[in-house]
Amino acid sequence: MTGSICGTGSYIPHYTMDNYAIADLVETSDEWIQERTGVIRRHIVKEETTVSMAAEAGRRALENAGVSAEELDLILVATISSNVILPCTACEVQRSLGAVNATCFDLGGAACTGFVLAYNTAEAYLASGVYKTVLIIGSESLSSITNWKDRGTCILFGDGAGAAVLKAEEGRRYLPVTHSEGGKGAALTCRSRNDSNGITKKNQAGDIKEEEYFIQMDGQAVFKFAVKKVPEVIQEVLELNRLEKEDIDLYILHQANKRIVEAVAKRLGEPIEKFPMNLQEYGNTSSASIPILLDELNQKGTIKPGQKLLLAGFGAGLTWAASILKPFLRKQGDGGT
Ligand code: ACO
Repeated sequence: MTGSICGTGSYIPHYTMDNYAIADLVETSDEWIQERTGVIRRHIVKEETTVSMAAEAGRRALENAGVSAEELDLILVATISSNVILPCTACEVQRSLGAVNATCFDLGGAACTGFVLAYNTAEAYLASGVYKTVLIIGSESLSSITNWKDRGTCILFGDGAGAAVLKAEEGRRYLPVTHSEGGKGAALTCRSRNDSNGITKKNQAGDIKEEEYFIQMDGQAVFKFAVKKVPEVIQEVLELNRLEKEDIDLYILHQANKRIVEAVAKRLGEPIEKFPMNLQEYGNTSSASIPILLDELNQKGTIKPGQKLLLAGFGAGLTWAASILKPFLRKQGDGGT
């Protein structure tokens, strides 16, 4: 028994900021951002919130899967930018969808690895028979925790949500590989958060410095970590499941930086065509980047029945993980595959 993705959905905010708009805020240029990151524009919330985007992505994934909200046993949301601390985003999504039979909780803090960990958690519940139908979502409004005066980070991030419905299926179970290295956590931090009204909350002592409210990053350290650890974890998950690189049809990597994706492909000796990217349009949307890309590939019909996909995420913690899956996807308007 395994858990298999049978539908996907996503929600992208309509408002966009291109690199020229960023260059109005900090000393940078379209040329520099494109060359160092691959990002051309990002979508930013206006009236949307992390919850509203998560709920809409979830609704679209249910529709794509042909599954009703009442059938859901579990809703898992990966996010580091929820509107409020309580109630959790997953419970808010439950309320919005009317998924009255679902157990709901968030996976916070794993940031850009969050969706892969949500997938692994859902898959383990399904494989063990605890649940039969699960909705997993990655949703982020990173713009609310971005320091728009810091050119080392504000060029990178964007907002959006992606979702997938998983069902228990007969079939081979692929085991994931997951890692954390708390000793390197200082490379990527966010010490506080904004509430839904944009009011910054201080800690009790009130002594947090202004710049600590936002995502802070040692960009070079995170870059070096990613280009070393992602190829390693991909090799590990292939060996664990007795598969070869040639068995993988597509590598769905966290969309952080075009140069990271290219470096991973090169280190693995795999063609770049097996590494689809959409970060040029959305920037780094943290836990949402992998499910947004999955949904795009699903809607375009790029993912074919029987193909094997390898998901790999990396981010704050530091954390990194990889999983192999064989989805049973339906395109919009399809009778199913
Ligand atoms: N525009 C113009 N110049 C800039 C900018 C900018 N936006 N940012 C930095 N520079 C300058 C620096 O000041 C430096 O100048 P100097 O040589 O005169 O000192 C020069 O450009 C090079 O700076 P680096 O920091 O070395 O630039 P780098 O090539 O490393 O690119 C970047 C920076 C894009 C942030 C890169 O390090 C990166 O992508 N790192 C990984 C980030 C990431 O993937 N994070 C994922 C996790 S995010 C999460 O979990 C929420």
